[in-house]
Amino acid sequence: MLNGKKVIVIITGGIAAYKSLELVRKLTQKGVKVIPVMTKAAENFVTPMAVSALAQEKVFNNLFDLTDEAEMGHIELSRSADLIVVAPASADFIAKAATGQANDLASTLILATDTNVLMAPAMNVRMWENAITQKNIHTLNEIGIKFAGPNEGDMACGEFGYGRMAEVDEILENIELHFGNKKLKGRHFIVTSGPTREPIDPVRFIGNRSSGKQGTAIAEALIQKGAKVTFVSGPVEISPPFGSKVIKVETADQMYEAVHSALPADGAFFTAAVADWKVIKTKNQKLKKQNGMIPTFDLSETEDILASVSKLKKNRPKMVIGFAAETENILINAKSKLKKKGCDFIVANDVSLGTQTMGGDENTAILVSEEISEQLPTMSKRALAETLVEKISQSFEEMDA
Ligand code: CTP
Repeated sequence: MLNGKKVIVIITGGIAAYKSLELVRKLTQKGVKVIPVMTKAAENFVTPMAVSALAQEKVFNNLFDLTDEAEMGHIELSRSADLIVVAPASADFIAKAATGQANDLASTLILATDTNVLMAPAMNVRMWENAITQKNIHTLNEIGIKFAGPNEGDMACGEFGYGRMAEVDEILENIELHFGNKKLKGRHFIVTSGPTREPIDPVRFIGNRSSGKQGTAIAEALIQKGAKVTFVSGPVEISPPFGSKVIKVETADQMYEAVHSALPADGAFFTAAVADWKVIKTKNQKLKKQNGMIPTFDLSETEDILASVSKLKKNRPKMVIGFAAETENILINAKSKLKKKGCDFIVANDVSLGTQTMGGDENTAILVSEEISEQLPTMSKRALAETLVEKISQSFEEMDA
């Protein structure tokens, strides 16, 4: 599985750097071409000569090394690999990556790369638990950087807690997972995500509480399985999924256009909370209060994007998955939506006040098709995305069989 892959291994300064020698050795044994990169601080813990001997490659450690620039610039280097692994990732390096610094070769590679990045943090427990580090981890997580560990245990500094670098075999498992299951390679998916905003006047709009977290997680899970993803997103605060083609829209009409122009596709997930109504005549100027008079608006229904794609005669994706945001009679409503919209699956969730589904990090869903209705346990939006995407890839396999 790893044979023939090219992986940049960045070693930063920390006592756990000695474990990275083992990581480099095991990767090389598995047929991986390892490009080792070391920070200055890392050289206090392991020597470039030892790393180079195990990788059977030259160690890159200088951003301004002209020979390297002549052979391969740092931008090219950052994009030449199938994966970048940072082990150990020190608190300092994580902070640099999270704030977009590029003051040595290792941090520049992270800033410049369009390749996936896996970090194995290693630091003192207080440093790991510090709110600044946690904020940095959150920032990196949001832009799609993955983490292995840290683990809980005794530390070189004599303290106990979280901060120990993940074991080499755990890091390897994560690397294998990354390259593992590419069942959707060669398939194109469209994912709609987030809310839409329907303007009333230049400053006001009809909107909803959708955060885009579930749609983003689905796009990431699809990309993880090798799919090409066109991500059509309404206005959200979170970063779009790394590696997707992003089309930013605001209104339901724009989302409709973007989705139809992105066809053909093998599959489509309609995760967006599209506004059902739009104001027929939006005002060009800001509405002013007028002696206590309350304004009224004529509304019209927005185009149902999911139904329009499900009912296409030509270019209908093989697998169309809709979501149903419900506050009551979830299963009954989901079944009737499945029929009305003509899609293959409906993922129904309870969005009643108090469930925290909209905007939160967890989801409890029922998966409904003509044949099944499966209650899934409450899980993180990421886990739900992986579960759904795995089911869809199995359906593709069955169709292909
Ligand atoms: N949807 C869509 N275009 C619309 C409205 C909804 O594509 N104009 C999609 C959503 O992305 C979701 C599914 O339809 O996948 C169901 O959305 P939901 O808001 O639950 O249902 P509605 O069709 O809007 O019906 P209702 O509001 O009456 O429940």
